[in-house]
Amino acid sequence: MKVDVLLGLQWGDEGKGKIVDVLTPNYDVITRFQGGPNAGHTLEFNGEKYVLRSIPSGIFQGGKINVIGNGVVLDPLLFKQEAEALQASGHDLTKRLLISKKAHLILPTHRMLDAANEAAKGSSKIGTTGKGIGPTYTDKISRNGVRVGDILENFEEKYAKAKAKHETMLKALNYDYDITQLEKDWMEGIEYLKQFTFIDSEHQINGYLKDDKSVLAEGAQGTMLDIDFGSYPFVTSSNTVCAGACTGLGIAPNKIGDVYGIFKAYCTRVGSGPFPTELFDETGDKMCDIGHEFGSVTGRRRRCGWIDLVALKYAIMINGVTQLIMMKSDVLDTFDTIKACVAYDIDGKETEEFPFEINDNVKPIYVELPGWQTDMTKMQSENEFPEEFNQYVSFLEDQLQTPIKIVSVGPDREQTIIRYTEED
Ligand code: GDP
Ligand code: IMO
Ligand code: MG
Repeated sequence: MKVDVLLGLQWGDEGKGKIVDVLTPNYDVITRFQGGPNAGHTLEFNGEKYVLRSIPSGIFQGGKINVIGNGVVLDPLLFKQEAEALQASGHDLTKRLLISKKAHLILPTHRMLDAANEAAKGSSKIGTTGKGIGPTYTDKISRNGVRVGDILENFEEKYAKAKAKHETMLKALNYDYDITQLEKDWMEGIEYLKQFTFIDSEHQINGYLKDDKSVLAEGAQGTMLDIDFGSYPFVTSSNTVCAGACTGLGIAPNKIGDVYGIFKAYCTRVGSGPFPTELFDETGDKMCDIGHEFGSVTGRRRRCGWIDLVALKYAIMINGVTQLIMMKSDVLDTFDTIKACVAYDIDGKETEEFPFEINDNVKPIYVELPGWQTDMTKMQSENEFPEEFNQYVSFLEDQLQTPIKIVSVGPDREQTIIRYTEED
């Protein structure tokens, strides 16, 4: 068997959590391969709403194995809060959630460093989630990190060494902080973690594949936030793209199966950084209001704009996307017309190629399509789709040269329509 990968094609929050939950019945194992509690993946079913940060979104469908892979950065305190909340609502995880020994730990001082780095950047700050993601990955790459497996041996010593290094850095940045309580709670998180099974996840996952078990890898963030291919430096600190599933799980590239690329019918971004199709008018406000575009983790208002096909084509290319999933179509239900950016005008030159840098000289060129002006939220099958919506889907498939397999028409698990093609 191979590993199918589901990942975001925009700037995150595309609806990954919802679709991983929907696809979970088709898989034996669900795994996260990068990111950490900067993610906020929302699932809704049976009138309940859950937001997951570090735990894979396959946890709600009985009997599935969920794995936190080596590419993830884990905050034991936030993990404890997340797991306890799930346990309180009747979802026992201890037997179904496995954690890679090679995943790196987010220390309390990493969070402080995240805040100190942002403060030092002033007006050019990234607008991070403040969860210590950048400093933790920095320590990983500079070979100073502390890993989950380190909890099992000489942990105090390893922790103290890393903390001392961070304290020197925080002093150099003139950053005032007090982590007394945070550190105490964090250490309780370390104790809590010990009840879970720590695994050599690369062996385990390759073993699943050998045993013909199906594996779904759940991306976090989105391609445009990737450390290499996103809108650098306004990105996160991990490889959010498909290749990240190889390094973040320990699987070879030839073990990748389907790549599901997920995108909103429009586009959003939270935090700083370029966003060519961003709207600053009432149309943008309308998207934000109808789409409830507020961060699942930080509560920050998300910036909204039209779909950007230049960026989407780029994301499809980088990831080798085999199937597309379009989310939040219902948010556009009341719009007279829908715009899609098909090219950029850069200093008077038209291009469909995503450039090295997005700056103020990059202007979107739009095509305008008729809106469908129909409530789609209760639709059950593609036969009910209005003509103008079908036109929008065909237009996107034609532009992106990739089939749109799933259309989402609301936040609930049930509000998901699988489209059938001749191959099915
Ligand atoms: P993720 O980070 O990619 O998992 O996405 P988030 O959970 O951060 O953000 C997606 C938001 O949109 C959540 O509040 C979901 O409940 C909601 N959502 C997902 N799909 C749909 C949809 O098709 N329509 C609407 N209106 N909301 C959706
Ligand atoms: P999910 O998985 C949207 C953004 C932050 C910031 C930048 C760097 O829910 O889609 P970081 O804390 O990672 O150093 O922040 O990345 N960001 C996200 N935006 N969805 C996310 O995750 C994000 N995770 C990080 O807003 O601009
Ligand atoms: Mg999110």
